[in-house]
Amino acid sequence: MPDEPNFGDEGNKGAENAGKMSRRNFLKDAGLAAGAPAVLGGAMAISAPPDAEAAQPYNARAVPVASEAVCASGMATVTLTVNGDKYTQAVEPHWTLRQLLRDRLGFTSPKDWCGGMGACGSCTVIMNGRPVLSCMTLACECGGAVVETAEGIAKAGHPLIQAYIDHNAFQCGYCTPGFVVSAKALLDRNADPTEEDVRDALGGNLCRCATYQQHPPAVLQAAKALPEFQKRSGGEPKPSKGARA
Ligand code: FES
Ligand code: FES
Repeated sequence: MPDEPNFGDEGNKGAENAGKMSRRNFLKDAGLAAGAPAVLGGAMAISAPPDAEAAQPYNARAVPVASEAVCASGMATVTLTVNGDKYTQAVEPHWTLRQLLRDRLGFTSPKDWCGGMGACGSCTVIMNGRPVLSCMTLACECGGAVVETAEGIAKAGHPLIQAYIDHNAFQCGYCTPGFVVSAKALLDRNADPTEEDVRDALGGNLCRCATYQQHPPAVLQAAKALPEFQKRSGGEPKPSKGARA
């Protein structure tokens, strides 16, 4: 199939040739499609000005606006905070945040269910207070970012973990972390969500399996446990309904 773009594997270095689309260019193009669904089921890759971003449904995944100066200069060094700890790492311009987290920093919860096409949500992490698709986010754009993964959520003892156990809300090991991260992002923004809010927030996490219906009650249970959790962990009170993180 000569016209089919070749995204290559995640470490592709030689795809930017002979009419083939590189992962880096693919990500850039996806980012330029501001406000347009890049993929299935409502998960979107968005590179949009703040006003446009605020108008997006919360399950939209924001891809940060490119920092060309850093990303265009070959190998770049980025410092970012992941689950409360600071990391400095040299990254290639085509690396995704998912690659950086998994392959360099050892955070294995961001998965790659759809081949890094922005279609499944299994790679979701929270970056600067928003859920993002780490497979659609260039690592070189993440300098200064504050990132939270499912590891951090579990380590903090967030009530989502027990709620997911209580409601048997698990998908497989590939899908569950992305759901939990999306749910956490929702609760950070809205500590008193409705079932519809939960369904909306999880709308970009897709799989073919059967526990979808268990997620809303699990997230609603976790919301009820939030005040106690925040008291225990000394966390700041979270924004109430409707506020954006
Ligand atoms: S959306 Fe990122 S791996 Fe599927
Ligand atoms: S593929 Fe993971 S739960 Fe469906």
